[in-house]
Amino acid sequence: MKPLTSLLLALLFLSSQTVLSFKRDEFRNCNQTPFCKRARARSRSPGGCTLTPHDISISNGELTATLLSEHEDQIRPLILSLSVYHDGILRLKIDEDYDHSDPPCPKTRFQVPDVITPEFDSNKLWLQRLSTETLNDESSPSTVVYLSDGYDAVLRHDPFEIYVRDKQSGEEDGENWEERFRGHTDTRPYGPQSISFDVSFYSAEFVSGIPERAMSLALKPTRGPGVEKDVEPYRLFNLDVFEYLSESPFGLYGSLPLMISHGKEGRSAGFLWLNAAEMQIDVLGDGWDAESGIDWVKQKRIDTFWMSEAGIVDAFFFVGRGPKEVVRQYTSVTGRPAMPQLFSIAYHQCRWNYRDEEDVENVDAKFDEHDIPYDVLWLDIDHTDGRRYFTWDSALFPHPEEMQKKLAEKGRHMVTIVDPHIKRDDSFRLHKEAAEKGYYVKDAGGKDFDGWCWPGSSSYLDMVNPEIRSWWGDKFSYENYVGSTPSLYIWNDMNEPSVFNGPEVSMPRDALHLGGIEHRELHNSYGYYFHMATSNGLLKRGGGNDRPFVLSRAFFPGSQRYGPVWTGDNTADWDHLRVSVPMILTLGADVGGYFGNPGPELLVRWYQLGAFYPFFRGHAHQDTKRREPWLFGY
Ligand code: GLC
Repeated sequence: MKPLTSLLLALLFLSSQTVLSFKRDEFRNCNQTPFCKRARARSRSPGGCTLTPHDISISNGELTATLLSEHEDQIRPLILSLSVYHDGILRLKIDEDYDHSDPPCPKTRFQVPDVITPEFDSNKLWLQRLSTETLNDESSPSTVVYLSDGYDAVLRHDPFEIYVRDKQSGEEDGENWEERFRGHTDTRPYGPQSISFDVSFYSAEFVSGIPERAMSLALKPTRGPGVEKDVEPYRLFNLDVFEYLSESPFGLYGSLPLMISHGKEGRSAGFLWLNAAEMQIDVLGDGWDAESGIDWVKQKRIDTFWMSEAGIVDAFFFVGRGPKEVVRQYTSVTGRPAMPQLFSIAYHQCRWNYRDEEDVENVDAKFDEHDIPYDVLWLDIDHTDGRRYFTWDSALFPHPEEMQKKLAEKGRHMVTIVDPHIKRDDSFRLHKEAAEKGYYVKDAGGKDFDGWCWPGSSSYLDMVNPEIRSWWGDKFSYENYVGSTPSLYIWNDMNEPSVFNGPEVSMPRDALHLGGIEHRELHNSYGYYFHMATSNGLLKRGGGNDRPFVLSRAFFPGSQRYGPVWTGDNTADWDHLRVSVPMILTLGADVGGYFGNPGPELLVRWYQLGAFYPFFRGHAHQDTKRREPWLFGY
């Protein structure tokens, strides 16, 4: 019998019609991304620094060790901590050993705050026993930590590895979770930053996860025998990808660095790396490492290689009897999904844009006339005064409260869009206040970052700062958001963040956040903090008695606590209808396809499928023909 635990981790610290206008060249590939190019080139090389653990001990209920490299002039010591939580979850943290100067040297690596739930932290089990043994026929000793009656954690000294041993079956082949470490110093201005490591999934038929991308659920190999040379690793870097292609592994608006394996024996394993910098992941095909002599067929092992530009190792291992158990463990770390409002699981009608109050009234009336159920009507960016969020165009929407009340009388709700870019206009109170308080993300030179988005010249709130999140939340009170009523909820868009004139349509990596954190370190979590601030604002607005509804385009682990996410700007074609299924197993999708005009049959089929989406919204780009469901002659 295979051991239950089935993950292996080896760590290396190393410096058609869809041919619309997706422009691959606008985005970097691995070869154009120094940390990715370097890490990928080194991943097969047997060189590199072997790390050896020293001072292994138990402190505060955790196993701690100092990892030293053979080449001590090349790398500073690393500090490892291994902790165990309720439900068999194992957490491994590795960070540098900072000196205590002010500022610390090297610059402190970013650790993602406010994702792990306080409940999870309180579920830590207290490790107590430790022994040093030479196991089986190994030449090097191992430190064995008692985890439970069923399991031990084994830390092999040379080569450095960590695995969890199932006491029952461990003797048979002894290999469950394993970790190997090698080091490298990156040449960033702030010192070594990039990290890469291998994760192997045992008893695995396939691996899935790491959204968001418009392709099949099972992840195809990106390297190894039979894989073309120029296949890119899977990239996690939240981006506004205009007219994205279906059946493409290209990374889109959101990032979940969570991979799940599943095997025929019904076992699943999960691996989460809580890191918000750009990440690239290779899935290695059977036989990729011909020299290792691994019997791939016997082991049913899938190797993956993870690379990130910055941050620390903060990794979680989950093992369960199926994906459901793994997801349960994952949400015990990052939070359970928000309980949705009843109305929000019904049908939503959206378009960029419903022009004015009369348009809203007509669309609403037509649903009744055709006896088509719907619960929510959405207003996109052009309901505002010049794309200044929290305002209304006074000519087109002069009576917003009355408009919402009319919908509410029929039990319907309204959703308006509020994006994170703030129009740089001194007569706009929100901007003036944010600028005066110093609440904007700064450029590398220390000035408020100024980028181009829907309103033109815009600045972006520094949402990683809890004080700014709280200030933002207050903007949703009825008093501050003039014209809003209790039946109005919110859509957060463009929160990757999208910056039309920025590198890869986003914020420069050297932009600066709270306390000098570089944007590169937290990029993938920016949209998450924005979503959190909005959702908490609505919670405050309702005095804690209302369940917020906030849709977000960008996401990160923990986003499930704050509301739904969707697949962004898809296209009205059959390929996008098909690919919406594997995509919405984690998200929702625009019914009908955002870009282009669906024919009647495609639209009907899309509604038929969309009824099963967890978030069911018809939505379309401003250049498309009107497509409310009664316009198609059925
Ligand atoms: C983005 C959104 C899209 C919206 C548009 C205008 O492209 O993904 O849904 O209609 O912005 O706000």
